[in-house]
Amino acid sequence: MEVIVLPGPDDVARVAGDVVAEVVRRRPDAVLGVATGSSPVGVYAELARRVTAGDLDLSGVTAFALDEYVGLPDGHPESYAAVVARDVTGPLRLDPARVHVPDGRAADLEAAAEAYERAIAGAGGIDVQLLGIGANGHVGFNEPTSSFGSRTRIKTLTARTRADNARFFASPEEVPLHCLTQGLGTILEARRLLLVAQGEAKADAVAAAVEGPLTSMCPGSALQLHPRATVVVDEAAAAGLTLLGHYREVYAAKPAWQRP
Ligand code: F6R
Repeated sequence: MEVIVLPGPDDVARVAGDVVAEVVRRRPDAVLGVATGSSPVGVYAELARRVTAGDLDLSGVTAFALDEYVGLPDGHPESYAAVVARDVTGPLRLDPARVHVPDGRAADLEAAAEAYERAIAGAGGIDVQLLGIGANGHVGFNEPTSSFGSRTRIKTLTARTRADNARFFASPEEVPLHCLTQGLGTILEARRLLLVAQGEAKADAVAAAVEGPLTSMCPGSALQLHPRATVVVDEAAAAGLTLLGHYREVYAAKPAWQRP
């Protein structure tokens, strides 16, 4: 995989923004996979800045969220449907009719998961999937021991993930126990993967995903199976990588025609 190590979070947002912008420049009706959580917030801000400046038009884009909590009341501000509407659809001026989030309120969650898979396939698959990574190595909400072949389904969040995400809720107990998430098999079908991580809390997970063994104990290691995965990290998140010097050399010598 391509590993790009940059000085700070602003650089991560700019370079990841370049990747998304280039995909959409080549294909204005591209299909984007959007992550929630803190990691991609800067990327969305960067894309929104370009849209506002008139340098980028995302109005023809279709978007699919990675995951959604199960059991939050309709309109809860921390449901990913609400987060995507607030942080992505609005600022990036996406067409709300083309923005999809798994239905975590469905009476039949298995049917909702299958419908989500069909919707992604019906849109022609995902051109570029933006990803964050959990401190325990999860991508989407595929927690450790998730199958590399998994599809969109119901998962139980680990105590660690619920504790990490408690910052978005009034109390830790309010963090749902279950979610619907694209599976690792679903994610691996995207034509391009773009994982962003910032800060020292992600250093171990990034090192395990990029350089560790291929193991379901680190779901992020599934990226090693993808022919076009780019990992964009700041110095702090890169701190556990052993081949740091090599990644820097590769990026510095990257031919102009290969950028971004
Ligand atoms: C969010 C998602 C998760 C997050 C991960 C990191 O849609 O699927 O995998 O990317 O939990 O979260 P942050 O970015 O908040 O540290």
